[in-house]
Amino acid sequence: SFEVELARTGVIVPVGADETILSAVRAAGADVPSSCEMGFCGTCETKVLSGTVDHRDDLLTPAERATGNTMMVCVSRASCARLILDL
Ligand code: FES
Repeated sequence: SFEVELARTGVIVPVGADETILSAVRAAGADVPSSCEMGFCGTCETKVLSGTVDHRDDLLTPAERATGNTMMVCVSRASCARLILDL
């Protein structure tokens, strides 16, 4: 598991192995739109301010993945202890 920090409020959200970032941050009050929730539509794309993303979507290009500043929170996860998202 890992944590997500919501940059706009400073809230720290633990994300367990059995839940998505999308569901965890929504439960913590963040308003994130979604549609497919399978990593291919881009609706849930969220700006990453800090941390390393484990990209699991089918949408971002290798170059976009390499920049590390955006992610699909419905499927992708962290490969670090804490991600800071622009939420
Ligand atoms: Fe479609 Fe996340 S909701 S990519």
